[in-house]
Amino acid sequence: MEQLTASIKTLGLDEVPQLSNLTTFPTYNQVDIYRAHVAELLAPITGVAAEQIYPVLQWTQVLDYGDFMLPVPALRIKGKKPDALAQEIKEKFPESPLVLPPVAEKTFVRFFFKPDPLAKLVLPSILKNSTKYGFNPNLGLKDPKDPSSEKKKMIIEFSSPNIAKPFHAGHLRSTIIGGFLSNLYEAAGWDVVRMNYLGDWGKQYGVLAIGFEKFGSDEALEANPIGHLYEVYVKVSAIAHDEAEQVKALKAKIVELEGKNESVVEQQAEIERIEKEGIDQQARDYFKRMADGEKDALGIWARFRDLSIVKYKQTYARLNITYDDYSGESQVKNESMEAAAKVLAEKKISEQSEGAVLVDLTKYQKKLGKALVKKRDGTTLYLTRDIGAAVERDQKYHFDKMIYVVASQQDLHLAQLFKILEVMGDEYAEVAKKCQHINFGMVLGMSTRKGTAKFLDDILRDVGEKMHDVMRSNEGKYVQVENPEQTADTLGISAVMVQDMSGKRINNYEFDINRMTSFEGDTGPYLQYAHARLCSIARKAEFTPEQLATADWSLLTEKHAVDVIRSLAQWPDTFTNTIKTQEPVTVLTYLFKMTHMLSSSYEQLNVMKAEPEVKKARAALYECARQVLYNGMRLLGLNPVERM
Ligand code: ARG
Repeated sequence: MEQLTASIKTLGLDEVPQLSNLTTFPTYNQVDIYRAHVAELLAPITGVAAEQIYPVLQWTQVLDYGDFMLPVPALRIKGKKPDALAQEIKEKFPESPLVLPPVAEKTFVRFFFKPDPLAKLVLPSILKNSTKYGFNPNLGLKDPKDPSSEKKKMIIEFSSPNIAKPFHAGHLRSTIIGGFLSNLYEAAGWDVVRMNYLGDWGKQYGVLAIGFEKFGSDEALEANPIGHLYEVYVKVSAIAHDEAEQVKALKAKIVELEGKNESVVEQQAEIERIEKEGIDQQARDYFKRMADGEKDALGIWARFRDLSIVKYKQTYARLNITYDDYSGESQVKNESMEAAAKVLAEKKISEQSEGAVLVDLTKYQKKLGKALVKKRDGTTLYLTRDIGAAVERDQKYHFDKMIYVVASQQDLHLAQLFKILEVMGDEYAEVAKKCQHINFGMVLGMSTRKGTAKFLDDILRDVGEKMHDVMRSNEGKYVQVENPEQTADTLGISAVMVQDMSGKRINNYEFDINRMTSFEGDTGPYLQYAHARLCSIARKAEFTPEQLATADWSLLTEKHAVDVIRSLAQWPDTFTNTIKTQEPVTVLTYLFKMTHMLSSSYEQLNVMKAEPEVKKARAALYECARQVLYNGMRLLGLNPVERM
């Protein structure tokens, strides 16, 4: 703050404009300085308090419309027409050291930053804060105005695949979006717990154990647990399926024979045998032993789980994701579920129905339907486990907020979960209040070239290979890439992630491997290229960070330079806005706009051919742009490359 006050003084203001009863962050966001300053100047003209003006100053979609604007009707001044008022404000607005004389247009007043002070406020701050520029670590504090206050805690549950089942598009999106949200809230100062809630419980894990006895191999399990378990599951499920078909056929046969008054003894005996000895019953028995906590039964299953987690960890690492907690459906304690069942019964929220227990949620909202919370055989369900898990997580972490990143196919499931917790009252209702479901649409046509991709690793490998082909098609460049394999891999991952984050979360999108790996258009490879190009400029210009810090900012006078600076100044606001939208596309849209602006300025703002001082100023400007691009890419979970 002291430093900021000193530089504000050189610009002709006595102190940093700040509005006392608002949470503004002039040291993190220079635009806050401008908004406070303009609000202070507008107060005497409009008769509205600066604190009320500040929040209605909005950003513009394009820089031509100003750096921010005042929609006059939002001031709610009675008696005057907004357009006349806009005109009046424009005329009465005093000379300011920070902004140009405003422009009145219809009911808007548009404000433009004066270029010189803007460069001096923004660019040194980017160089100084480097990887932290734009992020505001106070937002996640219990009291954002008091930097010494405690961080709030957030659980973000994401990815959550099912062991021995394919990692489908829903898991892919959850992983990408959840990883992004974790970075986002961490950058905002929250204490984030990244949680993976594995699908690792239920009768199908009995099926898997039985299958492993028949088809499993220890070596194959060690070598590729996820693939092998899936293989086993497919084989044993096929048998179970055949048996079910057999029973169906036998039953049909019985009807036929009975019609003819013939004996059905043989058929009945066969059905009995299958029902007693078949995979389905074996699996039920096995799972029952697991649920009862029998050591032998749990041992093999724990091995499946542990080995799968080892493998998952490697794959998540490729996406820059590490988890703090590998929980899962199996980890939910019986006590928590029983305690919940007791409350549900006592408060008459649940009811018995043909031996099972259900909650009739139509009482609260028609579309929530009836939800089963206990099966007839007494076993729990997906929903029951989620109820127990939510409470256990609260007891373990005392979180302030919990986000579930799950596909919109499960909207009903989560709405049921939250509603049940809410009507249970007391601590359950407290938990419900803190929960949010972040949903997303489907990925259509996710088949990769080989058509075999069932697991995250395969998807990333296939896209990486395609990327490698795209790179090879530019031979001249290709020979200069030092480690093409690895670069292709990184670019491929960026391609998948950027495509996923390019629209609003709720929209479905087409998995288009050609489009996502292209260097043209708003793609991952395009962003990577923009970053690598800025790195190459820096390598050629050869300035040290100390030298760049002494750049003469007043030399950046061209419209292109000024526009790039104005665009860089928007990054902190983009970050804050992203916390509101919780949409990765908010960040991406900004980054694409900024990089497009850059690519049209390279010619006008040449570094190597410029005079020494201009050369330094421009190199510093590009370094600032690189930093902002880097920060944005990292926030999204991408690995910015330096060469490609
Ligand atoms: N494993 C589940 C599935 O693949 C997703 C889990 C979502 N999280 C939850 N708490 N229910 O469908």
